[in-house]
Amino acid sequence: MSRAVFGTGARASVATATAILGAWLLLGAGLILSVPIASADGGPHVADANSGLTTLTADSCAGCHRAHTAQGEYLIVSTTPDALCLTCHGSAGLGATTDVTLGIQFRSAGSLGDAPQDETDPTAVAGALRGGGFAYARIGSGSDASAALRPSRLSYPRFDGRGGRVVSRFSTLVPVLPAGLAATSAHLDLDGDGGVTGTGTAWGNGPLGTAGAGPTVELGCTSCHNPHGNGRYRILNPIPAPPATSGTFTPVADPGIDVTDAPLPPAGETRNYTVIPGTLVSETGTDPTAGDYWRSWRSWDGVPTYDPDSPDADSHGIVPATGSIGDQPAGTVGASWRAQMTAWCAACHTRYPAPRSAATTPSGDAIYMYRHQTNESECTQCHVAHGSNAAMPGAYSGDFPYPGASTSGSSRLLKIDNRGTCQACHDPTRTVPYTGVLDNP
Ligand code: HEC
Ligand code: HEC
Ligand code: HEC
Ligand code: HEC
Ligand code: HEC
Ligand code: HEC
Repeated sequence: MSRAVFGTGARASVATATAILGAWLLLGAGLILSVPIASADGGPHVADANSGLTTLTADSCAGCHRAHTAQGEYLIVSTTPDALCLTCHGSAGLGATTDVTLGIQFRSAGSLGDAPQDETDPTAVAGALRGGGFAYARIGSGSDASAALRPSRLSYPRFDGRGGRVVSRFSTLVPVLPAGLAATSAHLDLDGDGGVTGTGTAWGNGPLGTAGAGPTVELGCTSCHNPHGNGRYRILNPIPAPPATSGTFTPVADPGIDVTDAPLPPAGETRNYTVIPGTLVSETGTDPTAGDYWRSWRSWDGVPTYDPDSPDADSHGIVPATGSIGDQPAGTVGASWRAQMTAWCAACHTRYPAPRSAATTPSGDAIYMYRHQTNESECTQCHVAHGSNAAMPGAYSGDFPYPGASTSGSSRLLKIDNRGTCQACHDPTRTVPYTGVLDNP
């Protein structure tokens, strides 16, 4: 079973695992090696292999631990857990297809000849990662980017109880850029002297009514992910509990938040982590700029229409959408995925999730008094999980203070420049007629 840990893909051989281990040893010594490597999904993070349920001869431990010559606490090979993760998931890393620094997934791990994972080779890039990227991301967030690569929206009709009219709601598409732009906000400050400035504040942690905006914590990859695997979506920790350096961090109660996962893909295949629809990398097609960062709960162009003469129309003349209506990323399971993800983000950001009524009902919290609903729009509708390149040049959004603070902010992991996020769903003027035609095409 140990082979399942590293996969048996077309380019892999029985020696793959050995080659990967060799690569780690050399990486540990500061050398870069280009060895052909292919990996199955899960990499060394397959819970049943690490737990001993499927094998008592696991190979994976050696990828991350040394018994006598470890360089970091808990006997890990690198000096810190984040550095360990980046030996495989970073831009110089071999051994994983996902590069969270550049925000892209490659077709195979470290198998691209002399320049492994060369970001300039578009044929090697499968697409842009759902989480964005810590140092660079490819989110087509703005109207200042190339004209073809900015957000656009399609109106659909909605009966407005207040005005008694058919008004427009929107389905939005945020495209993928062909090259990375520097991150302007991220959960971890991995861009060196770049634009991301960490605050360490677990915004909104603690129940409503807690004093202050949240404790300061030490966040790392393993605050959110379990390196040993746990069978959950993206090996997300059900009870994230980063150590607090100021204030008190309040974790969620046992058993925590379970974001359910799809089964591991077949041997030789790697999961698709990009914003392109499809479960496996082999289903991502040939265009690395395909896909949609907005990932609305409807597939973006599967929207209702207005046609009072249609036999399918309701009493307001609105014809429901036909065709595919997605409510979660491909390769995940459970109709409640969106609610699970929101609950998971809220395991640290306790005071952020809110029902629809919270826009007009005060919560009693001094800072988080009125809040936008997150039960129809999950946290990852508006935010990416790792890092964003969205720009905030506007006078109002550009110098926007953090909660309870006066310091200027960042792009807040949003997917659209300034507050285009709001326009992605709302026309507060109620003057945009329903046309069914693309806006900002
Ligand atoms: C992908 C890297 C990775 C792999 C593979 C891995 N570990 Fe770990 N392990 C870590 C990290 C990082 C920590 C430090 C604790 C943390 O940050 O979660 C750790 C902590 C531990 C700990 C102490 C904390 C605890 O959870 O009990 C033990 C014991 C351990 N690992 C054993 C193993 C064994 C045995 C294997 C193989 C079956 C293994 N690890 C595979 C990365 C890994
Ligand atoms: C604040 C929590 C958090 C931190 C910190 C974090 N991640 Fe993630 N990560 C997530 C979430 C949530 C997802 C799922 C994103 C989605 O599907 O929208 C994810 C997804 C991923 C993926 C799948 C690819 C993708 O972009 O969707 C990889 C690989 C990954 N993380 C690795 C890492 C590594 C390595 C680090 C540290 C450098 C890290 N993560 C730090 C929360 C976190
Ligand atoms: C030895 C290489 C290696 C190391 C070290 C490593 N990973 Fe991975 N990881 C992989 C591979 C291979 C995959 C499969 C997907 C891919 O190719 O990126 C993977 C997948 C993941 C995923 C997606 C899991 C899923 O449910 O689909 C996450 C999240 C992740 N790694 C986080 C981490 C974090 C956090 C660390 C550091 C504690 C880490 N990895 C260290 C090789 C590695
Ligand atoms: C409808 C879009 C939307 C949704 C859904 C959303 N956010 Fe936000 N979030 C924003 C915007 C916009 C900002 C920028 C600050 C502002 O305008 O208040 C922000 C800022 C933040 C910040 C930075 C601190 C701050 O308040 O400025 C955190 C943390 C955050 N959101 C967490 C969450 C969590 C957790 C969820 C899910 C429970 C969530 N958000 C859901 C739009 C959204
Ligand atoms: C393990 C706790 C933890 C989890 C889980 C978590 N966050 Fe955070 N979040 C933090 C911390 C700590 C910061 C401050 C990071 C920094 O700037 O150093 C932060 C910052 C943010 C910010 C502000 C970024 C900025 O521009 O400064 C947003 C937005 C945000 N989180 C949204 C989310 C969303 C969405 C999720 C779920 C996908 C999530 N968080 C899950 C701990 C967490
Ligand atoms: C993903 C779509 C989406 C995004 C993005 C979004 N909203 Fe909303 N918003 C909703 C929905 C759905 C409601 C629930 C009430 C409704 O249907 O109008 C709502 C409610 C509201 C309300 C309360 C209206 C009422 O009648 O109760 C306000 C105000 C509001 N949003 C403002 C904003 C602002 C400001 C932004 C940008 C920070 C934003 N919204 C982003 C979907 C969205």
